[in-house]
Amino acid sequence: MKNVVVVGAQWGDEGKGKVVDILAPHFDIVARYQGGHNAGHTVRIGDRKFILRLIPSGILHEECRCVIGNGVVVDPRAFNSELQELREAGVECEGRLFVSSRAHLILPYHVSLDRAREERLGANSVGTTMRGIGPAYEDKASRVGIRAGDLNYPDLLREKIRTNIAEKNVELASMGAEQLALETTLDEFLVEALRLKPFIRDTAVMINTATREGKAVLVEGAQGTMLDVDHGTYPFVTSSNATAGGSSTGLGLAPKKITGALGIAKAYTTRVGGGPFPTELLDEHGAYLQKRGNEYGAVTGRPRRTGWFDATVVRYAVMLNGFDALALTKLDVLDEFEEIKISTGYNCGGELLDTIPYGANVLAECAPVYETLPGWRSTTSRITGFDDLPPAAKDYIQRVEELCGAPVALISTGPDRAETIIRDGSPVSDWMK
Ligand code: IMP
Repeated sequence: MKNVVVVGAQWGDEGKGKVVDILAPHFDIVARYQGGHNAGHTVRIGDRKFILRLIPSGILHEECRCVIGNGVVVDPRAFNSELQELREAGVECEGRLFVSSRAHLILPYHVSLDRAREERLGANSVGTTMRGIGPAYEDKASRVGIRAGDLNYPDLLREKIRTNIAEKNVELASMGAEQLALETTLDEFLVEALRLKPFIRDTAVMINTATREGKAVLVEGAQGTMLDVDHGTYPFVTSSNATAGGSSTGLGLAPKKITGALGIAKAYTTRVGGGPFPTELLDEHGAYLQKRGNEYGAVTGRPRRTGWFDATVVRYAVMLNGFDALALTKLDVLDEFEEIKISTGYNCGGELLDTIPYGANVLAECAPVYETLPGWRSTTSRITGFDDLPPAAKDYIQRVEELCGAPVALISTGPDRAETIIRDGSPVSDWMK
């Protein structure tokens, strides 16, 4: 049995799309288990660039079946437009892309509520992607959500949506936000949503049948460990379980069937939106990382905050997700630095911490404790063998392994598929057999 989950070890945008794209040909199914079109997985093949937000990155491989699991929230309009983009690029999805009947749908009122709530929070806003993700998960937990399978029962569905719009309008009005026109909203939504119908399946049954037949599943996480609603920097998090545990509930795949976990970490750190970020650099080094690393959100285009590698964050992610190995991405972005810092722990009001403290307010007060390593000042892009890396780069990677407690099995030195080092004898090379 080979079912591997790929999870972000930081605050998202670690380069999961590229890694999933490399692993996908060695798996039969690629599945998403949480999040929605707030994710932005950039995959570059030759001079073609694809940004996949909702549909699993495996769709670019003809042999792969792709699943949007029950734990994902699906905006029909985003789904349809991504499908159209793929079609225009010659990628056909029919017959190999499936949406769980139990996946909740994002409706226009979720987007309006997301925006209204963020506006109300003002300076304390989460900095959401404004895609309606949080409000859709709220409705799921409140048991008033609309699920993809409801599209098979149009009369009941219309009734539920009418009730919801009326209730959400009261809430929107209380925040001084514009209300939604009941019938137009409903009709426009249904036009988009009904186009989902041919893709809807009981994907838990589909995945479990496939694994029984010996098929391998690659499980694609979105966002990252520090954005997990339980384990992240709450309340500055997304509204789902981005950590590996979410893959069981989000797909209906039992924990004992997940045979491997790969953590993706950037060779430095980035974060989009609000919330604490101990190693954030607000100086010229931070500006350099942003420019050289092209650190702008794939979905919203927002500039990402940047900082040094935070080993406490990645160590925490290794613990929570049980990573067999790490993939270290964007190593080439550090090529020019004379010296590179790694944060090994925090000084929190005089107390030295080696794990993430409770509370975003506490983490915001933590000062990173740094170790300084020499830079390598040479180009790592296009190097495909670990031994060919400059010695200082190898030392940096070794230090990351020691501090985080997991081997680095894959190193990415550029956006292209070819700009990747896969270490022999590592879990990643095993999964690619
Ligand atoms: P939401 O998921 O839109 O509710 O946003 C909640 C927080 O998660 C915000 O700080 C977003 O910037 C962040 N976030 C959501 N999706 C991503 C992602 O794919 N990459 C990085 N940050 C994300």
